[in-house]
Amino acid sequence: MQITELTGPASALKLVDLPDPEPSHMFTPGQGVVVEVQAAGVSFPEVLQTRGEYQFKQPLPFVPGSEVAGVVKEVSDGAQLKRGDRVAAFCMIGGFAEATVAPGHFCFALPESLDFAQGAGLVLNYHTAYFALKLRGRLEEGESVLVHGAAGGVGTAVLQVAKGLGATTIGIVSSDAKEQVAREAGADHVLRADGPWKDEAKEVSGGGVNLVLDPVTDSLRSLAEGGRVVVVGFTGGSIPEVKVNRLLLGNTEVIGAGWGAYVMSKPELIREIGAVLARLIDDGFVRPVVGARFPLARAGEALELIDDRGAMGKVVLDVR
Ligand SMILES: NC(=O)c1ccc[n+]([C@@H]2O[C@H](COP(=O)([O-])OP(=O)(O)OC[C@H]3O[C@@H](n4cnc5c(N)ncnc54)[C@H](OP(=O)(O)O)[C@@H]3O)[C@@H](O)[C@H]2O)c1
Repeated sequence: MQITELTGPASALKLVDLPDPEPSHMFTPGQGVVVEVQAAGVSFPEVLQTRGEYQFKQPLPFVPGSEVAGVVKEVSDGAQLKRGDRVAAFCMIGGFAEATVAPGHFCFALPESLDFAQGAGLVLNYHTAYFALKLRGRLEEGESVLVHGAAGGVGTAVLQVAKGLGATTIGIVSSDAKEQVAREAGADHVLRADGPWKDEAKEVSGGGVNLVLDPVTDSLRSLAEGGRVVVVGFTGGSIPEVKVNRLLLGNTEVIGAGWGAYVMSKPELIREIGAVLARLIDDGFVRPVVGARFPLARAGEALELIDDRGAMGKVVLDVR
């Protein structure tokens, strides 16, 4: 499934026939793992890519799709995987296809406890969640975490990883159905985006939250002394501005967390995060929440669902 023009999710995609990729990835030229794709994860960046609005630009036409789950088909020398292994893999682009190629360090063994659809939601959101919560947000056991868009892909991942790290979790959502999803993903408290959530968050956290993921300006008011807001994205479309006197008054921090740009040149760190997540899967904390599923040929509808704020959990394309 290629993006052939930058006209938005409804019309930018076209199904084409292409040869299988070689085991060589743009991040690791001459080396890579070819994966026979069973399921491909769909995320906000692909919506942006159909409009040419994503920071990582590709010449047209190209196959979008940053992550997949499937079975190893071919490996270059030196890869630690073998043909037939079940994997979750981050390929950056090329995932909306029957076969794709990923760097070896971005392929993770997919345990039997997770199916391929769950595997397709395992890398981008969960690595981002751990990176944002722990490595950037310095989350400690016993602290409270508030996450906006808590029923979304990143939101459900943040709730599960935060629980696994011993935090109390507060999710903000916009509907009853999303409230249910956030609760099932491990939110101890769920608050409504159109309600007085800043005051409610202070109350349920016993005086203010320690860590907030996402929208900055409003969230500053819900923080405890020493609290941190971690910026992971701008799903609402606008980029908030912070009056820095508020940081001084509250002894608070605003921290950026751009997972991809940070880890891309650090294979060891990628493996370390993968190992932490493997433990959280074994311990039952990490279970990707799969929402809507579409066949590959209907990828445009999957993107429209995300664009229309209708996605819950991870949106997945069933490729086979
Ligand atoms: N920093 C990083 O490294 C990194 C990595 C991955 C993703 N991201 C970013 O994280 C954000 C979330 O991605 P995702 O895959 O979790 O998306 P998603 O599954 O669509 O979830 C986003 C949530 O945001 C809320 N939202 C508020 N205003 C919205 C709007 N105008 N349109 C759509 N949703 C809106 C929705 O929840 P309610 O309706 O309940 O409010 C929705 O459930 C994106 O901005 C993405 O680019 C960042």
